[in-house]
Amino acid sequence: MTPVSTTRRLEHVISSEQFDRESLDDIFARADRLAGHRDTRLAGRIMATLFYEPSTRTRLSFESAMLRLGGSVMGTEAAREFSSVIKGETLEDTIRMVSSYADVIVLRHDQAGAAARAAAVASVPVVNAGDGPGEHPTQALLDLYTIRCERGSADGVHIAFCGDLRFGRTVHSLVQLLSLHPGVRMSFVAPEVVQVGADLQARVAAAGVPYQLTDRLDDVISSVDVVYQTRVQKERFTDLAEFETARRAIRIDAEVMRALPQNAIVMHPLPRVDEIATEVDTDPRAAYFRQARNGVAVRMAVLDLLLG
Ligand code: NCD
Repeated sequence: MTPVSTTRRLEHVISSEQFDRESLDDIFARADRLAGHRDTRLAGRIMATLFYEPSTRTRLSFESAMLRLGGSVMGTEAAREFSSVIKGETLEDTIRMVSSYADVIVLRHDQAGAAARAAAVASVPVVNAGDGPGEHPTQALLDLYTIRCERGSADGVHIAFCGDLRFGRTVHSLVQLLSLHPGVRMSFVAPEVVQVGADLQARVAAAGVPYQLTDRLDDVISSVDVVYQTRVQKERFTDLAEFETARRAIRIDAEVMRALPQNAIVMHPLPRVDEIATEVDTDPRAAYFRQARNGVAVRMAVLDLLLG
């Protein structure tokens, strides 16, 4: 996909691959300006949220972002059960129709590639809010924004991606955005069943980013700046034994925190199950709730770019 230029209007948000450093700087400058702000710049505009998979943060933070900019929201939360999909309607037909009801469509779907399919037939911008094990580009934007807010810059960080690196779409998207930053190093910490795929490794290598794979957090914890822990994506496993192996593998608790440098942070896209012990929540390095809060400002910036 071609990088988004700051002079050209953003058309759809489908993949992290669309962004370059310049467009990221533009989005984050807008997010800085819009954080905590309310105005009416999107008055009269309508956002439709079509969610075929569960969501709390993504849908509500998009809705909050749109409402804070003066726009209106409508949507279906369990599109698989409560929309015409149950009658056999294709995604393409649904999107064609919703295009004439709304000015922007925020889509979450269980199949990788669904957002690109939607964008191909939509006559309004489509935002990928997660397409199965594929990507979740606006989550990656808020993750990167969080790293910048917490550490000043993402340049030069050593990040440990932990947990489900095979099905975790937020990892797939964030790896690509971080690859645009000089000096970044990546450690992929996961058991083999959920280790990062060959495709993504090839992209990281092609971007010249040094990386390593390990199944032991102990190997890297004392040298990381950012721990990016993820939930093992139970819903995507066909083999429950594999899920059980993956689920038990990497856990952040008080002992892990003792080995983590004082100026490092712990992130998680949430929801958390038990891969971060709740005893970690009060540690100032636990950044995951601050990270979730950043979702509103970043999504305001995205909507402003798409519709403003
Ligand atoms: C993530 C997702 O849906 O991919 N959640 C989110 O959007 N913040 C992560 C997850 O479900 O584990």
